[in-house]
Amino acid sequence: MSMGIKNKSKAKKYVVKKGGVFWPSPEMKKIANMADPKIYEKAAKNPIKFWEDLAWNGLTWEKKWDKGYVEHFPYFEWFKGGQINFSVNCIDRHLDHGDRTALIWVPEPTNEKPIKVTYRELYDKVNKFANVLKSEGVKKGDVVSIYLPMVPEAAVAMLACARIGAIHSVVFSAFSADALRARIIGGEAKILITSDGYFRRGKPEPLLAKAKKAAKRTTVKRIIVVNRIGKRVWGRRYLDFNKALEKAEAYCEPEIMKSEDPLFILYTSGTTGKPKGVVHDTGGYAIQAYQTSKWNFNLNPGDVMWCTADVGWITGHTYAFYGPFLTGATSLIYEGGPDYPNSGRWWKIIQDHDVNVFYTAPTAVRMFMKVDPKWINQYDLSSIKILGTVGEPIDKESWMWYFRMIGGSRCPVIDTWWQTETGGTLINVLPGIGPFVPTVSGRSFPGLTHVIVDDKGKPMPTGRQGFLAQKSPFAPGMLHGVWKNPEKYVKTYWSNFKNMYDTSDGAYLVNGLIRITGRTDDVMKVAGHRLATAELENAIHDNKKVGDVAVVPMPHDVKGQVPIAFVVLKKGDGSEKLENELKKHVDKKIGPTARPGKIFFVKDLPKTRSGKIMRRILKALLVKEKPEGLMTLVNPESVEEIKTIIER
Ligand code: PRX
Repeated sequence: MSMGIKNKSKAKKYVVKKGGVFWPSPEMKKIANMADPKIYEKAAKNPIKFWEDLAWNGLTWEKKWDKGYVEHFPYFEWFKGGQINFSVNCIDRHLDHGDRTALIWVPEPTNEKPIKVTYRELYDKVNKFANVLKSEGVKKGDVVSIYLPMVPEAAVAMLACARIGAIHSVVFSAFSADALRARIIGGEAKILITSDGYFRRGKPEPLLAKAKKAAKRTTVKRIIVVNRIGKRVWGRRYLDFNKALEKAEAYCEPEIMKSEDPLFILYTSGTTGKPKGVVHDTGGYAIQAYQTSKWNFNLNPGDVMWCTADVGWITGHTYAFYGPFLTGATSLIYEGGPDYPNSGRWWKIIQDHDVNVFYTAPTAVRMFMKVDPKWINQYDLSSIKILGTVGEPIDKESWMWYFRMIGGSRCPVIDTWWQTETGGTLINVLPGIGPFVPTVSGRSFPGLTHVIVDDKGKPMPTGRQGFLAQKSPFAPGMLHGVWKNPEKYVKTYWSNFKNMYDTSDGAYLVNGLIRITGRTDDVMKVAGHRLATAELENAIHDNKKVGDVAVVPMPHDVKGQVPIAFVVLKKGDGSEKLENELKKHVDKKIGPTARPGKIFFVKDLPKTRSGKIMRRILKALLVKEKPEGLMTLVNPESVEEIKTIIER
């Protein structure tokens, strides 16, 4: 394998190899914010006190809490009685060094210059935009919908909400109008913040038309539009983001919030057809985002972190914006496609901006493994200190490629396991402590406990796969409910194991470290994006010709998984035309990220006597494995037919 990275001679080595795995080098230990392996034991002695100390030392509070942690399973609150404002923690407290860069924005078009926003400038914009929101009647506790691409205004809008105690609900800009609409209605948002469009693969991609359509006949009174691609917008319902900001008052008093008050909701896919609004609180989420950024990514003022996730996902919330801001570091965000104008773009960005921490998804790693290495080797990546991955399991080959090609065999690869529900990372190896083992995520963050159990909740022996569960005290960043659906909160997460949180992931232990094997429910990860098979099934079912449908994920060498649909028509045969029609409808209902890779028209779906579709059998057929459990089917003959169709 080529390792021809043009390292500057000053490139430092942050790992050493010992016993076949990697460990932090003396250099890494020297710079690490946390390098004491005893931290785990220390934290475990009194995890509540441990988190209380971190929160008190790491954040700025308006009033100290009365009680560190209160639990009435399955409800729990951290820092009860404490008062805090999240935007103050992200910005105001860094103003002594206000000329430090908070955000570097790299636009996609190469003829546009990157923009740097200092903490002082961010402060000014957030204060002003908070006043814009106030003058639009937004109050503490109101939900504001944000449908923005990767532009600096996304950070400004989110932080402005936090400043006045409004709850932001960010929706991924590649989601469809229908998907946005459902989320606007769910939050009863009065304000929608969007842009006229953004640049993607060299072309302006319109966004406003989708936003307009989504907001029709909803609670939305005002649409605030960022002018990005130069489309003129007028009408009483619209407000130009930056013009409104210019006219606004300079200072906005931060709203003092209770630690347990909601900071944001973020919709995510579960096992049903309806996405759920995961609610995150303020103080608990803040310390999880802060501390994990400090210890996993070793962020300090002056460090540049590039998390490639879109702000529409939890990773974008916590590590493209909030983690770097809370630690006073610099976040880099990039507007466009990873291979525009060529496959060297990402690596050029790292070189041009001296990125120190690079955090991406295994799907991106697999994509770049396929390109000519010259696109990477011509850039100097020696500024990188830490590499991270998130979103899906990473195989050994991809891990090693990432370690060698991007890290120059110098940097730890931190495989972080977490979820929308957990707010911040929960399981990974700390860079100052190690070891870094391909395919293994590592240990629970200090002060947290995960166990691997069987379906009854009994611990599994080392090496045996089971369900990953979390024990009390639950992580401060954990969700604080499902928006307007308390039953779902209890049923989805807290009912499967006694007194434990069910992660819906499978895992096993290797030498005391946790290896994640993937979802145990009907949730897929398609190019790192979380999708429910049921959502796709609902969308396909909308078509009147469809009698029955099952969607299952199939392994894919770049995307990790792609959805494959099996459709039974009410009458007649399927056709390419109908397949395209159904795919288009999925685009419309959810977005192109969810588009099925293939739709098979079949006569029947394998079902149990109680009518349950056996998706497991479909999955096995797709990967040419022998399906098990045929005896339980009412229609075992369906399996042969499907097998023949797939093979064809
Ligand atoms: O299956 C796990 C997988 O992603 C799921 C959560 O998806 P989402 O809520 O979209 O959040 C993704 C980013 C935090 C998990 O249930 N997952 C996440 N990180 C990893 C992972 N699987 C394996 N290894 C990881 N590092």
